[in-house]
Amino acid sequence: MSESKTYYVTTPIYYVNDSPHIGHAYTTVAGDVLARWHRQRGEDVWYLTGTDEHGTKVERTARKNDMEPQAWVDQLVENEWKPVLRTIDAATDDFIRTTSGRHKEGVEAFWEKVRDNGDIYEGNFEGPYCVGCEEFKLPSELLDGDGEEKLCPIHSRPVEMLEERNWFFKLESFTNRLLEHYEKHPEAIQPESARNEVISFIKQGLRDISMSRSVKNVTWGIPLPWDSEQVVYVWFDALLNYITAIGYGAREGTPEADKFASTWPANVHLVGKDILRFHAVYWPAMLMAADLPLPKHVFAHGWLLVGGEKMSKSKLTGIAPEQIIDHFGSDAFRYYFLRAISFGNDGAFSWEDLSARYTAELANGLGNLGSRATAMVGKYFDGVLPEPGPYSNADLALQDQLVAAVEIADAAITRFDFSGALAAMKSFVDAVNMYVTEQEPWKLAKDPKNTDRLRTVLYVMCEALRGIAILYNPVMPKAMGALWGRLGANPHLGPIASNTIASAGHWGELPPGSLVSKGDGLFPRLEDPSE
Ligand code: MSP
Repeated sequence: MSESKTYYVTTPIYYVNDSPHIGHAYTTVAGDVLARWHRQRGEDVWYLTGTDEHGTKVERTARKNDMEPQAWVDQLVENEWKPVLRTIDAATDDFIRTTSGRHKEGVEAFWEKVRDNGDIYEGNFEGPYCVGCEEFKLPSELLDGDGEEKLCPIHSRPVEMLEERNWFFKLESFTNRLLEHYEKHPEAIQPESARNEVISFIKQGLRDISMSRSVKNVTWGIPLPWDSEQVVYVWFDALLNYITAIGYGAREGTPEADKFASTWPANVHLVGKDILRFHAVYWPAMLMAADLPLPKHVFAHGWLLVGGEKMSKSKLTGIAPEQIIDHFGSDAFRYYFLRAISFGNDGAFSWEDLSARYTAELANGLGNLGSRATAMVGKYFDGVLPEPGPYSNADLALQDQLVAAVEIADAAITRFDFSGALAAMKSFVDAVNMYVTEQEPWKLAKDPKNTDRLRTVLYVMCEALRGIAILYNPVMPKAMGALWGRLGANPHLGPIASNTIASAGHWGELPPGSLVSKGDGLFPRLEDPSE
């Protein structure tokens, strides 16, 4: 297999038992920022998302709504899950559905291969199952409910007791290989708390696990090619999306096979912490069983909490992304969750905090800087970016700070530290605002003797904003595209997204003479809905 050249990032594929809420959008935004950032590093990027459409949970929801599962998933995917990508401004490269032909073919090919390799056998399963998690549970993990009832610790709902004939995957036999892999690649699971959790889970001892379910209990799935009485267990169908979407199983020499060779292994699977075990234990074991390389990183992020609990539609705490975006816009939505919550930790969502950060950091901090710079070039130089004169120490210090901000932000994003990157960018915005306060260009404008200095200060402000726009573009593409336009950068530097992250720190790229325009505020002041 050829060396992977593509930066391949994935989101989990979402269950279509309901509509998207901001917990789902959170992962997709993080993946989108990563994808946009790496594209702006000049890398070849592939960003995949999609929907997980089989299994008991989806089947039962469809039937409860008096619909056939296929009709149910078709309408939800088209009316809710695909449109939400536009709402949150996610630029994905592909959307995989587990009910699609290409996925089914890949799933069949994969399990045939694992069976040929001798890692599957027939047996009987008996034990608890949580339909919410679509997971076989260990009795020791369960909470006590009313009477005899046992509850899933994630869903606080009763588990079901299963007894059925299944095909088993020899998970246990991969124990040592998994431990060796994680020993050799400590960066493979992040953050560290997630890595520790996985390693201690593996060390407790892995048990073989059902890779299929009996059609007596679940019909909504992909039939096993060698046993029509069984469908593939939904997780062992869903995880395969990461390879079926990029051409796994395609005949050698076809474009699909080339795509697979240049894209796999994934650089990172972004997942919520509740589905870490599937991605960091079962999935790598499956890949080993099929003789495939393992993903470079699995990053487990925390949950958005409401009232101290994981936000979820089933607990009626789900907030739809458009409830926030209609008021604050998609840029602020994207910015807020990555800035306010350290990626990997849980975060409590609050309208007050969102509103406060919007006003302080976006409207007053960044937006105001953009308006001031472009308005002053308009007022004092008829909208033509002036030529700078000799640079003072303050000008040079700011240039150094920009270079440092680019380096810090780039290093942070490449290790999935979004809040660290955004903090570095914000510090630079604050430094530029401080510079403006100290240089007082409005005073310089009062005396023609100071015109040269005024030219320099306004040039420094606009050039700093060019760097800021490039850095913030992966997070807030709409506002930064608008800022780019107002700086008059397009004719000389091309579209903002074609400017590399490194170029943000190359001082002097915005040519004097560029046509600068003021336009509306980048982050309009919010109307108080109670007024
Ligand atoms: N279908 C599986 C994933 C299969 S991947 C091969 C699944 N789907 S899900 O729709 O239930 O969840 C998808 C993702 O959304 C998970 O990463 C989950 O952690 C995330 N979130 C769901 N609610 C969340 C919050 N309240 N907060 C943050 N993320 C949450 O699991």
